[in-house]
Order: sequence, then C-alpha cells, then structure tokens
Amino acid sequence: MTWVVVPAAGRGTRFGGEVPKQYLEVAGEPLIAHSLRALFAHPGVEGAVLVLADGDSRWPGWSDGSGRPVIACTGGDTRAESVLAGLAALPDSVRADAFVLVHDAARPNLRPADLAALLERGREDPVGAILASPVRDTLKRAGDDGGIDRTEPRDRLWRALTPQLFRRLQLGRALESAAADGVEVTDEAMAMERQGARPLLVEGAADNIKVTTPADLAYFEFLLARRAA
Ligand code: CTP
Ligand code: MG
Repeated sequence: MTWVVVPAAGRGTRFGGEVPKQYLEVAGEPLIAHSLRALFAHPGVEGAVLVLADGDSRWPGWSDGSGRPVIACTGGDTRAESVLAGLAALPDSVRADAFVLVHDAARPNLRPADLAALLERGREDPVGAILASPVRDTLKRAGDDGGIDRTEPRDRLWRALTPQLFRRLQLGRALESAAADGVEVTDEAMAMERQGARPLLVEGAADNIKVTTPADLAYFEFLLARRAA
C-alpha cells in the first residue's frame, strides 16, 4: 500500500484570478477532488496528505467513501517546500524506505492505467520512477541575441509529469539538500538526480496535463466531457 503527497499550496499566478486554480470547479468539483479521485481509484493507494497554503480556508474535506484518509497539512513558499511539509505529515506507519507518490493537485486527468504502470514498474526500481511523455515539438536552443544556436535532438527528451514515486527518506533528504544548496528543484526527480540517482521514466499519456492557464482548464473540461460521453 502506498501513500500520496498532493501539493496544493500554490497561488496559481500564471492562471490569474481570485480563486487559486486548484479550487476551480469542473463538473461540480474542484480540481483537487478530481486529482484525489484519480489517485484513490487505485486500490494500492492507502491515503493522501494534501498540502494546503497557509491560511487556506477553502478546503471542504473530501472522501471517496472507502474510509481511506485524506490528511491536510500546511505547505511553503515553493513546491519543494510544500512536498517536504507533506512528507513530514505522513503517518509514522509509513516507513523510511517505503515508496511514496507525489502528485500535483493541478493534474486532474491522471489515467488509471498510467498510475498502475508507475506503481508496478517504479517499485521494482531501486530508486523509483516518474511518469513522463516524449517531447513532440522541434526544440531550438537560443543564443543571447535571440537567434537559434542549434536544434536539440528530441529523441531522448521527455516531459516530466506526476505522479513521481520515491522512497520517503531518500526523497526528503534529496529535497532538503537542494534547499540547503539554494537550488529550486521543479520536480522530485530533479532533487534525486542531484544526488546521483537515475530514476526510471515510465511513459504516460500526454493528456495528464498540469492546469497552468485558463486554456488548460478548458482542455480538461473537454477531456472530462469526452470521458463521460
Ligand atoms: N504548489 C504547492 N506549493 C507551492 C507552489 C506550488 O503545493 N508553494 C503546488 C500547486 O498547488 C500545484 C503544483 O504544486 O498543485 C504544481 O505547481 P504549479 O502548477 O506551478 O502551481 P502554482 O505554483 O499554483 O502556479 P504558478 O506557478 O502559476 O503560480
Ligand atoms: Mg508554481
């Protein structure tokens, strides 16, 4: 059984608006609830720690009726700080070497098969694994003057998604080390890579989008409606 840390303490500055994006409703439910539902759809998920912004009074609580707990805690100024707070809030029953998932509250369209594949393959890896999707665009490296220096071969480039699966203590230490060195890591794998670890890439669907702008929200609405049809 695996616990999940769900960072939901961001301010959604790129999205804009009054309500933080994780609380925007689609089909009558906030994005956080869609993300939690996708995670709890897997029977191997034991519970979740939901990391909320300091002073957040919007969270109404959520349960899928299975009795599996959703524990709320308070996050920090960066995503990495929020994930660290979430790891600290895991119950004592989660051992230091237990694998823990980290999944963005702003990724409501996680597919059950992708979560299952990540858990299955990641647990067999000594380090852990992340969901990722191959880059499809042609990538240009720019010079200081805005001109193109070169085209980056994309055959080995992947977009990092969540969930990401790492061991509780190792991930905590890696995130603490990055913070101590003043490096802002933008995902868990980046913190682990800094320690010399080589997490496994597990291919997941490209439509496991992070809602960053209003256009992303409209895309999720479309995906959800198509799923229901
Ligand atoms: N997050 C968090 N704590 C932070 C920053 C982000 O828990 N201090 C969470 C967000 O709530 C989101 C996930 O990390 O679920 C991914 O972050 P991102 O998409 O960047 O969300 P925001 O930081 O809220 O958006 P922005 O960067 O546009 O402000
Ligand atoms: Mg952010």
